[in-house]
Amino acid sequence: MTRPTYKIISYGCQMNAYDSELMAGVLEAKGYSLTDSEKDSDVLLVNTCIVRGSAEERALGRLAKLKALKQERPDRILGVCGCLAQRDAEALFDRFPHLDLVLGTRAIPSLPELLDRLGAGERPLASVEECEHPYQVNAVPVRKSSLRTLVPIMSGCNNWCSYCIVPQVRGREVSRPAGTILDEIRALVQVGTRDVTLVGQNVNSYHDGRTDFANLLGKINDINDLLRIRYITSHPRDANARHVDAVSSLSKVCDHFHLPVQSGSNRVLDRMNRGYTREHYMELVEGIRDRLPEATITTDIIVGFPGETQAEYEETIDLVENVRFDSAFTFFYNVRVGTRAADWPDDVPLEEKKTRLSRLIELQERISLEKNQGMIGRQVEVLSEGPARRKDRHGGSQLVGRTTGDKCVVYTGKPEDVGRLVPLSITDAAAHTLFGKAAE
Ligand code: SAH
Ligand code: SF4
Ligand code: F3S
Repeated sequence: MTRPTYKIISYGCQMNAYDSELMAGVLEAKGYSLTDSEKDSDVLLVNTCIVRGSAEERALGRLAKLKALKQERPDRILGVCGCLAQRDAEALFDRFPHLDLVLGTRAIPSLPELLDRLGAGERPLASVEECEHPYQVNAVPVRKSSLRTLVPIMSGCNNWCSYCIVPQVRGREVSRPAGTILDEIRALVQVGTRDVTLVGQNVNSYHDGRTDFANLLGKINDINDLLRIRYITSHPRDANARHVDAVSSLSKVCDHFHLPVQSGSNRVLDRMNRGYTREHYMELVEGIRDRLPEATITTDIIVGFPGETQAEYEETIDLVENVRFDSAFTFFYNVRVGTRAADWPDDVPLEEKKTRLSRLIELQERISLEKNQGMIGRQVEVLSEGPARRKDRHGGSQLVGRTTGDKCVVYTGKPEDVGRLVPLSITDAAAHTLFGKAAE
């Protein structure tokens, strides 16, 4: 008998990416095998994100499209999971009657049982309850890549930034025990992981009762054969000198700080409930540049927040000009129903939001390019990840590697480079990619 098949369509942040890997593990433990084809799948799950309106529309559009697949084969199991599933729960069955399963963000431990019940013909089924240990599942995640791997160190978020839906759909912050995290990373290293990314909405507040974030980094740094440690996301309120010390003293922790600033205006930061000022942020940046002048700094920024005046926006532009981020994820504000900011007038017109965003993007692109051009002629060490998407002009094999600062470098290399640290010198630069050759 052939094994039943599954496919998971995954949107959203690294949290969702990991959850999809874990759900794939649950499905494989139940005897399912992966298929690339939606049409061939016996179980099809859509892991959704609703952090901004565009993400929500994408998720809703995808779910609507599944109707045809259901008509084609009514016995197929169609499920929605992730943040939309958590927010809308059973109401999704009214809107999309072709769905069989709604699985919330903390309900993965109940997936094996739900699959059995679905298999026995019971449907539709929903599970969106709170669960203290959303990652305690008797299955091994199926990894997208063995070389670079995501490992969650906590779930949930306690911050209540006034614009953000995440705390509502991910629940209260819970740290995983350090021992579990270390065991998982050790096992991953055995099967080829060299670069691990620790994932949490605010990794700086990690605490399992005994170990805090800086201590956790220290323990992971001691794991043999692991080459690099990354983490996402830091919160500028909680990232402090101790954190910077840990990064500078621990050899495997990458020299990259992703510090979402969101705005350069204290009045806006206060309304966003971010818990820090522009001055605090600038001090943090100066502290990093003093200790680790080569470290990269990246950020997230929202423009057009309720009540953002032209002058407040200019403060963000001014901050971006001053900090000179290596890169930035930039967004215009989207109302998320149920958040505090949704009670305030969304009073920056859409056209104005777009104008503010495009000027910011233009500025950041220029800075990203200038920073990358400044690296031409310099020596870097990359962890070689595998073939780059394009061939070089001479038909040679182009590889891509990543610097400690998380910059991608395309270079002509040897197959045995993959999985190793390779010294390169930078020969050319674009805003989002560097080009290099083997260092002499
Ligand atoms: N926990 C992380 C990431 C949260 S979501 C953090 O605190 O930074 C990723 C980014 O989406 C946020 O940093 C923010 O810039 C953006 N974002 C979140 N809600 C938004 C909204 N309602 N409108 C526009 N951008 C938003
Ligand atoms: Fe959202 Fe703020 Fe939590 Fe990040 S820290 S997930 S922006 S509430
Ligand atoms: Fe999106 Fe949920 Fe992550 S809303 S950003 S997938 S926590």
